[in-house]
Amino acid sequence: MKKIVIWPKNIRVEIYIRVSCNNWCKTEDSTLLLTKIYQRNKPSLLFFFFFFFLPALVRSMADDPGSSSSGSSNGENSLITDMSHDHLFSILLLLPLESILSFAMTCKKTLLLTRSQTLWKSICARDWGHSTLDACSPSLDWIQLYRRLRNLDRVSCFNLDASDAPTPRASHSLNFFKGCLLLFGGGCDGGRHLDDTWIAYLGKRVVNWQRVAASAGPSGRFGHSCVVIGNSLVLFGGINDSGIRQNDTWIAQESNTTLSWRLLDVGPLAPPARGAHACSSIDNRRMLIHGGIGLSGTRLGDTWVLYLSENLCFGTWHETLSHPVPSPRSGHTLTSIGGSRTVLFGGRGMGYEVLNDVWYFDSSEGRLGWVPVLFEPRNVPGGISLARVGHSATLISGGRVLIYGGEDSYRHRKDDFWLLDITRRRVWRRVKCEGYQPRSRSFHRASADESGCYLYVFGGMVDGTLQPAEPTGLRFDGELFVVELLV
Ligand SMILES: *[C@@H]1O[C@H](CO)[C@@H](O)[C@H](O)[C@H]1NC(C)=O
Ligand SMILES: *[C@@H]1O[C@H](CO)[C@@H](O)[C@H](O)[C@H]1NC(C)=O
Ligand SMILES: *[C@@H]1O[C@H](CO)[C@@H](O)[C@H](O)[C@H]1NC(C)=O
Repeated sequence: MKKIVIWPKNIRVEIYIRVSCNNWCKTEDSTLLLTKIYQRNKPSLLFFFFFFFLPALVRSMADDPGSSSSGSSNGENSLITDMSHDHLFSILLLLPLESILSFAMTCKKTLLLTRSQTLWKSICARDWGHSTLDACSPSLDWIQLYRRLRNLDRVSCFNLDASDAPTPRASHSLNFFKGCLLLFGGGCDGGRHLDDTWIAYLGKRVVNWQRVAASAGPSGRFGHSCVVIGNSLVLFGGINDSGIRQNDTWIAQESNTTLSWRLLDVGPLAPPARGAHACSSIDNRRMLIHGGIGLSGTRLGDTWVLYLSENLCFGTWHETLSHPVPSPRSGHTLTSIGGSRTVLFGGRGMGYEVLNDVWYFDSSEGRLGWVPVLFEPRNVPGGISLARVGHSATLISGGRVLIYGGEDSYRHRKDDFWLLDITRRRVWRRVKCEGYQPRSRSFHRASADESGCYLYVFGGMVDGTLQPAEPTGLRFDGELFVVELLV
């Protein structure tokens, strides 16, 4: 008895098929049993299944040449093999991976059908996006590419030769913007908070940094946050050069190689001033911020969403009051993983403790609220997820989050890479780093290109060589390196 589980989005159908030995299918009368049907909606899809797909499957089983009893049965054609591959593949593409694999395992015929490169190219495109395919297709074996990307456990780092690089810094902002990297501000040696804007033009192994003439932009600051929304950058808050936390919202657009910053008109209501908060964009239209350190120095736990007008001239901030919510914290991360979910991870809590909890912000139709993400201990190395503050958490190919560096609860800076997957299975996985070994660091920034296969990391605090001249043992770093997913 073999079980096939087919999961269209909201329906769960379990089909039991009797399978004889040596992998060939043999159907006996009424061996096909539908045991459970949970249906919430999508009746049309269910209709399709029962009246088209399933009969086709059954008849093809009956026609299987390996089944000696049925032989070349009553002259009936095998519908599943008669069906055009395009047609069959478009049905399969409606199903999640588990169902496609179950289908493949039904018999030799289905296994052969589902070995098609065309099918797997479409599955790659469906699950990882077209831009990923363009960037990560060294081999034409789509099945292997899919498997490797799904089981990703290695990255490779390399340095970029730079000319005229920006001052070493930490807690700046770094965004992948129109094919380049855009860097703004940050804290640097001597306690200054920078207000410079840089563009990095990226080559294969080189980077060309250029300081941008930016029109009257945000004052010097660090611990601000900046996201790309459409063709613009949106920046909020941070700590200015007098050490005062800000609550201004800025928008920047690029034209003619200059960047024009504009203070965004947000009306009478803005979130309280803060720095070291977390932020991300939601569906390329809104900006989400959470937490940070407020004016009185206390850690905040509030959530705000910025809505932008169509022409990007105005914005309105709305506080989202929902329950439950992540506890107050700073130095944590928010990462939009596509669809309507944004992942929150780590940070430093009210009692100075370093946190290891994971949440996602659900912004799907009519909803705005936090959902805690729990892991089964067997899906987390060591049974307990790491605690981190000042790390980076970047969306990579396949809707997963790559976490790098930061500080643990002993204030040790780290150089490790972790993969956090909440899309299918909820898993933490340690990722090995090959090639260049970047130093341990915290409060650096990382940004991925459109393919999600290359990550650019700049700056941060690194351990100083413990010399009398450097009593703090702290140093700002100014290197840019690339993390490439090894698929
Ligand atoms: C920092 O912000 C405060 C309050 O917004 C302002 O009064 C002060 O001039 C700012 N300092 C600098 C250096 O911009
Ligand atoms: C772009 O910059 C160039 C040189 O700085 C200038 O001649 C040109 O008029 C500018 N174009 C626009 C549209 O501002
Ligand atoms: C935040 O912004 C509002 C309006 O933009 C301003 O009136 C208010 O003083 C600011 N609050 C703080 C705490 O800076």
